[in-house]
Amino acid sequence: MKLWGGRFTKSTDQLALEFQASISFDQKLVMEDIIGSIVHVEMLGANEILTIEETETIKAGLKTLLEKAKAGELQYTVEHEDIHMNIEKMLIDLIGPVGGKLHTGRSRNDQSALDVHLYARRKTVELVEQAVALSEALLSQAEENVDTLLPGYTHLQRAQPVRFAHHLLAYASMLERDMGRLIDSYKRTDMCPLGAGAIAGTTFPIDRQYVKDRLHFANLYENSMDAVSDRDYIVELTSACSLIMVHLSRLAEELILWTSEEFQYVELDDAYCTGSSMMPQKKNPDIPELVRGKTGRVFGDMMGLLTMLKALPLSFNKDMQEDKEALFDAVETTENCLTLMSAVIETMVVKKEKMLQNIQQSYSNATDLADYLASKGVPFRQAHEITGKTVLYAISKQKYLLALSLDEYQQFSPIVEEDIYAFLAEENVVEARKSEGGTARAQVENQLILRRRSLDETKQWLKAAETAKRLIQV
Ligand code: ARG
Repeated sequence: MKLWGGRFTKSTDQLALEFQASISFDQKLVMEDIIGSIVHVEMLGANEILTIEETETIKAGLKTLLEKAKAGELQYTVEHEDIHMNIEKMLIDLIGPVGGKLHTGRSRNDQSALDVHLYARRKTVELVEQAVALSEALLSQAEENVDTLLPGYTHLQRAQPVRFAHHLLAYASMLERDMGRLIDSYKRTDMCPLGAGAIAGTTFPIDRQYVKDRLHFANLYENSMDAVSDRDYIVELTSACSLIMVHLSRLAEELILWTSEEFQYVELDDAYCTGSSMMPQKKNPDIPELVRGKTGRVFGDMMGLLTMLKALPLSFNKDMQEDKEALFDAVETTENCLTLMSAVIETMVVKKEKMLQNIQQSYSNATDLADYLASKGVPFRQAHEITGKTVLYAISKQKYLLALSLDEYQQFSPIVEEDIYAFLAEENVVEARKSEGGTARAQVENQLILRRRSLDETKQWLKAAETAKRLIQV
């Protein structure tokens, strides 16, 4: 017997039943669903829509189900379609027909929206926590590697030497924006849709404010049709996840390059690598590779959601049931990737000598030769030309710039003097870039302070969001 069976004379086709059921995946929302119901029934009681006795009976039944859910003892069936009707049916079986009063003044449309809001809100907080952890791993490695120099790359060609801390801090900046996006979309997730009913509100004298406050929501949806139709916050969250994955995939790609024998810049901990079944020498960077690989599915989740929503008429349409798997997959994938990347970064060993060697075996101080000439009055464009010619000559002699004699330099420009050698030494090349945001020590140390400060603010935000994450004590 279906909970909505009154109007029907025939039973649902078995294939159709299975096709439209969401219980296989929305059972993930069981805690949100029961807690939402407990608050709903409390509100019905407080407003004399149900008697005190009915309220207490239903609440006790829901608490029993909550305990069973925690213990993993609930048995769901596809006959009851989704988590909402499975729980309602279990409640009626447990406490009798009075359980049928739970759904007074409520629809599955606002109920399902409530569950997803609660889930998305909790997951946003968890994602920020994981992003904080990765930021901390990056900042600790940065602090240890202020004096570690490596070639900075453009076009994956050695460009100019930088501090390794500077390189890592670029990722810390990206993550800072990611956390900002999560915290911003949280505002639009932190809204209570319950009380919208199926579409138009309800004839019962409900108190939406009560439900909102008990569930620690900051705001109420002001339009009942918007409340049951809005999935923007899910798109925002999966889009924030997509950008996090873009950033993680770039970091992952660099780790994959850096661990190769061609680079040998870092070694990853054995705990995060695997071997080959055939080639005994192999140590593969599986975790970064999978992070890179999983980026596509998160984009797919976001694209699927946007496409599902496009041109949907108001208000609830069954299409929207598709919001859940995409959301679950995007946030869980991103969360796992953040967690594992934190561990990988925290435990990686930095091979400073190899990084330095690659600076010394490069022409990455060529810009400095041009800057040297320009600082002595040669127009930069001309200095660039002279330096280009000098580099071409050095390549033909199989020498790097520091190995050229003063005579050799002076063939290209008489302005070059003995002080060129100190000027082109890697320490000086790095330290000379004192412009704001540059790679000189003071600038890098300033970045460390700024990122730490911002991380402290994010931790304050997390503290404030903690109550919402724990939901209510029932
Ligand atoms: N299982 C549905 C969902 O996931 C719940 C809402 C269904 N409402 C309805 N009238 N069929 O969105």
